[in-house]
Amino acid sequence: MKCILMNKNTEVLVSEYLDNLGVFSKIYEIKNIDYVPLIINKNKEDIIKVLNDWFKGRGIPLWRDKLDLLLHRLNISTPSELLDKAFGLSLSDQYWLKPYNLDICYDDINFFDNDFEYTEFMEASLSKNSKTITNDKALRTPNNTTDGMLKKAWIIENGTRYLLKGGYKNELLQPFNEVLASEICARLGFNHVEYSIDTYKDIVVSKCPCFINKDTELITCHQIRSDMKRHNDINDYEEYINVLENHGIKDARIKLENMFILDFLIMNEDRHLNNFGIIRDINTLKWIDVAPIFDNGQSLNIEYYDEEELHVSGEGRLFYEVKPFEEIITIVKNIKRIDLSKLDGIVEWFDLLLHKYQYLTNFSDSRINKLCILLNRQINRLKKLQSN
Ligand SMILES: Nc1ncnc2c1ncn2[C@@H]1O[C@H](COP(=O)(O)OP(=O)(O)OP(=O)(O)O)[C@@H](O)[C@H]1O
Ligand SMILES: [Mg+2]
Repeated sequence: MKCILMNKNTEVLVSEYLDNLGVFSKIYEIKNIDYVPLIINKNKEDIIKVLNDWFKGRGIPLWRDKLDLLLHRLNISTPSELLDKAFGLSLSDQYWLKPYNLDICYDDINFFDNDFEYTEFMEASLSKNSKTITNDKALRTPNNTTDGMLKKAWIIENGTRYLLKGGYKNELLQPFNEVLASEICARLGFNHVEYSIDTYKDIVVSKCPCFINKDTELITCHQIRSDMKRHNDINDYEEYINVLENHGIKDARIKLENMFILDFLIMNEDRHLNNFGIIRDINTLKWIDVAPIFDNGQSLNIEYYDEEELHVSGEGRLFYEVKPFEEIITIVKNIKRIDLSKLDGIVEWFDLLLHKYQYLTNFSDSRINKLCILLNRQINRLKKLQSN
């Protein structure tokens, strides 16, 4: 199929897309190179390969939790079958595929303005049992273009688009960690995505509003760093800050530091390069700001829980490295700037939250206690660092 890659209303490039394979086989013409996704603009030498990698990367990844079940329920064989189903539209950016001779415009099809049928996909993605989807409309949603390993689904409530995310396999702690992270960020004044707890058919999920609008896109650090040399040390971080500052992002360093302070407090192990980034204006291409802090669920020693013992595995991510949190936190220039008294009572608050949903999670009192001990321990460690 001959089609045009669009960025909202801007024609980006004309290409041949093989919809049975989910790949671009040929580029006929580049119309507007400035408006291609940043990762393509930065790696133009082998443009068809980067274009394909980028497009595939917008789809549901092969490591999505319970992917086999989801594919069965959606009645498809691979996630790539979904890539162009809804013109490839997403709620995290404004790119889409316009069939060459089709008279259609962004305003008529984008998912920010136009509602989509989310119930069936939500059920297929999140519920324990669900029917096979037979209605093609249920496959024309922004759920075709969500990244990440957790089961998830976009829904609409009172006009707002929300992302629901479940836990990984049988683990249910992720949604609570997301809510804890929001509470910490709110108290410390860090720009963040607000997560709350929701339930769907007795399953606990986290729920957050879309932080992108029709004029913006999320560009992850992975894209920004894609043409930069890797150093495997503090230079990766410093270079990234430099790039952001050179693009006029205000207080880039402080905002990045805030994210790593949060990671220290909740022991977030998963700050990989697609879990943070910047927001760009897709009309002017101006870099607006650091993206609000999102995806904080893989925290509080989630993978090392033991009912008998308190395990403390204290390693997080700093760009291409896994390092002890105590080491990562040393990147913060002035740790004393954080008013930790704002976190007074937060351990009790978290304890209450976990107990409130105990009837659904079946977390033991002992587990809840251990989670609170870990949180308390991290707050105290940060206080100690402040007093040095
Ligand atoms: N509120 C939001 N608004 C817009 N886009 C979002 C929002 N939340 C997440 N996204 C997009 O969806 C992707 C997946 O979300 P998220 O990182 O929360 O999922 P995950 O399954 O926890 O990921 P991971 O594999 O890193 O654990 C993000 O990388 C981002 O591109
Ligand atoms: Mg993620």
